Amino acid sequence: MSDQTTAENHVAPDPVKAGVIGYPIGHSLSPLIHGHWIDLYGLNGRYEPIQIDPKDFDQTILRIKSDRLYDGFNVTLPYKEAIMDYCDDIHKTAQKIGAVNTVSIKNGKMKGRNTDAFGFLANLKNFIPDFDFANAPALVLGAGGAARAIVYALCDKGTKTIYIANRTAEKAEHLASDFSDMGADIHVLSWDDRQTKNAEIGLVVNTTSLGMTGKNNLVFDVSDLSPGAGVYDIVYAPLYTDLLTQARNRNLRCVTGLGMLLHQARPAFEAWFGVLPDVENDLINKITKAAC
Ligand code: ATR
Repeated sequence: MSDQTTAENHVAPDPVKAGVIGYPIGHSLSPLIHGHWIDLYGLNGRYEPIQIDPKDFDQTILRIKSDRLYDGFNVTLPYKEAIMDYCDDIHKTAQKIGAVNTVSIKNGKMKGRNTDAFGFLANLKNFIPDFDFANAPALVLGAGGAARAIVYALCDKGTKTIYIANRTAEKAEHLASDFSDMGADIHVLSWDDRQTKNAEIGLVVNTTSLGMTGKNNLVFDVSDLSPGAGVYDIVYAPLYTDLLTQARNRNLRCVTGLGMLLHQARPAFEAWFGVLPDVENDLINKITKAAC
């Protein structure tokens, strides 16, 4: 029998269906990012915003699962924790972070993972390829979902000392305790004391929303950081926050936040479309224009 495909027996594969769930969802840049890659790699599929009202969350997720409406989706606010109850399998990184931002669905089973730690590290590597985790005590400002992924990433890479400062001290204590088994010494600083370790810090990471367009500025003076220190702001609108502008003026090593958003999308895209996409200049320009 010939294995040549004829026009009659050729069945085109179903298009891949993916999206991002959240509420509200209009602000999400994910459709632009994934749409760019679908076009760039000439793939058969689509990626769409899926707004789910909290009152409809349970029935919508169950329907997505049972009716195979999607091959997978990203998860954004406020559902990164709630979705975990619906996953049949959760990757250990996501379990430790306590949040899922990416779901793949195969044969009616949902698998959850968290790609924020990957995104944080890939972006850091891009800006500071030789970053020496073991010899760079880190200061993490904030203790929300992003901070949890970042503390995970830092511990995983062998950071020995991590300071966490958060407005609400109990959240920082909780975070420190959750990651106390990962090999780093994690200390909590009060929010008012957030600058007191600056002389020994090798990397400052702002994970709070302070400095974002429309929010208050982050009050943080970089003048007593050592000349080799890195300053990473995960806020990407504006691209150069006051924190990064100060750091740039002092010639410290700066890491802007847009790349974390772009890199965290890559493993998700690969899970659904089978291609690990690149963060290339066209994409960076497109997303910078949309975000800033
Ligand atoms: P994400 O998932 O993006 O990390 P989040 O969980 O809402 O978002 O966390 C936001 C972080 O910004 C928190 O650390 C928050 O501090 P609290 O835990 O005290 O709420 C921090 N943050 C937000 N507004 C702040 C402000 N005005 N001053 C200091 N910290 C602020």
